[in-house]
Amino acid sequence: MRIAMIGTGYVGLVSGTCFADFGHHVTCVDKDVTKIDALLAGRMPIWEPGLESLVKSNVERGRLAFTTDLTEALKGAQAVFIAVGTPSQRGDGHADLTYVYAAVKELAGLLDQPLVVVTKSTVPVGTGDRIAEILAEEGAPKGCSVASNPEFLREGAAIADFKHPDRILVGAEDDGARAVLAEIYRPLFLNKAPLLFTSRRTAELTKYAANAFLAMKISFINEMADLCEAVDADVQELARGIGLDNRIGGKFLHAGPGYGGSCFPKDTLALLKTADDAGVEQRIVSTVVAVNDDRKAAMAERVRAALGGNLEGKRIGLLGLTFKPNTDDMRDAPSIPLVEGLLTGGASVVAFDPVGRVQAESLLGEIDYAARAEDVADGADALVIVTEWDEFRALDLADLARRMRGNVLVDLRNIYDRSDAERAGLAYRGIGRGRPNA
Ligand code: UDX
Repeated sequence: MRIAMIGTGYVGLVSGTCFADFGHHVTCVDKDVTKIDALLAGRMPIWEPGLESLVKSNVERGRLAFTTDLTEALKGAQAVFIAVGTPSQRGDGHADLTYVYAAVKELAGLLDQPLVVVTKSTVPVGTGDRIAEILAEEGAPKGCSVASNPEFLREGAAIADFKHPDRILVGAEDDGARAVLAEIYRPLFLNKAPLLFTSRRTAELTKYAANAFLAMKISFINEMADLCEAVDADVQELARGIGLDNRIGGKFLHAGPGYGGSCFPKDTLALLKTADDAGVEQRIVSTVVAVNDDRKAAMAERVRAALGGNLEGKRIGLLGLTFKPNTDDMRDAPSIPLVEGLLTGGASVVAFDPVGRVQAESLLGEIDYAARAEDVADGADALVIVTEWDEFRALDLADLARRMRGNVLVDLRNIYDRSDAERAGLAYRGIGRGRPNA
């Protein structure tokens, strides 16, 4: 099957590459010449484990191509996926569909035969209907279909998520579109990944519901963590205690500094806008958003409290900056309000992140960057684990303690045990693990 993929961002590049790896012929197209040139030279625009070698092998086998020319990408294609950005509209949280509609308009004028237009970008309910109208208005050949096929990829694990999905969701309104999508995903459902067909609108909304539900689990466990601290209980044990109940499930119950990234913050807001437009209250999701915003803003206070109530003149070492490990993505990362709060409080900050520095530099204020994890401890009054990169999980705590001026370890990801930290001479403060001073 020939497939065109519009947009070589995170979703488009991973999806296009994985489709090619299944044996389809994929042409990825992007307006950004620099990006396409880099891809043609084998350089990835994002840091995602396993992606570079997968791109390389599929390019070599002639199944994956990159171009800035949409006409070329559409040649012989039976499906075109739209995977362009849908950022939050400045100020109001609505998903900005400018890039989606611009792509549809452009391709409508170039088609010489009908095909299936598939949205992979996360788009609000009804976007598929509008795409169908635009295709008709712009004179696309009769017989084009519009389908919705949301992605559920996690950054840092995107290739594995694509190749071993819990389910594949396809929202379509006609058998032709269903048949094309079934053929595209056949290699996957032979491996028993359920292929779920719904109406187009249902598929569009399901994507938002999935992200909102996961965000809710995180905000729930974060509030439980606060309660654990007040009543001297342990949130990790609590999470296991509830998570082993199959009805609840153990995933997404890690208490931490609040969720960030390119999806949860943006998609929860967009869902609230959809609900608002439809005149239906979503009290749970709006509370989830508020709880998460407050949580991220409260992390600097946590560090202040661990230091006895004063940040003035203190040196703080941060381990990790990205919103989660295995990505260089800094979008809505909890480290952003944390650094802001620490600097406002009069502290100086030094940070190390295995890959996030370049992205971080443009978003964070005046901080220093260390070349290695252990260097952030030099002269620090407190160390803060912000992102749970694997390489932070087995640091020599005694060595860190020796390098520090103070002795405070604030572990926002609960990757260390209090007893190990204390044995190394550190005063440990995790998340939701008993009373802070207990
Ligand atoms: C998410 C969804 O998982 C994915 O299905 C969707 O397509 C895009 O959004 P992603 O943003 O890459 O993926 O990361 P994810 O691993 O879901 O983590 C999101 C945020 O939640 C991170 O900030 C992470 O630290 C936080 N999180 C996650 C927690 O705080 N606790 C958890 O238990 C899980």
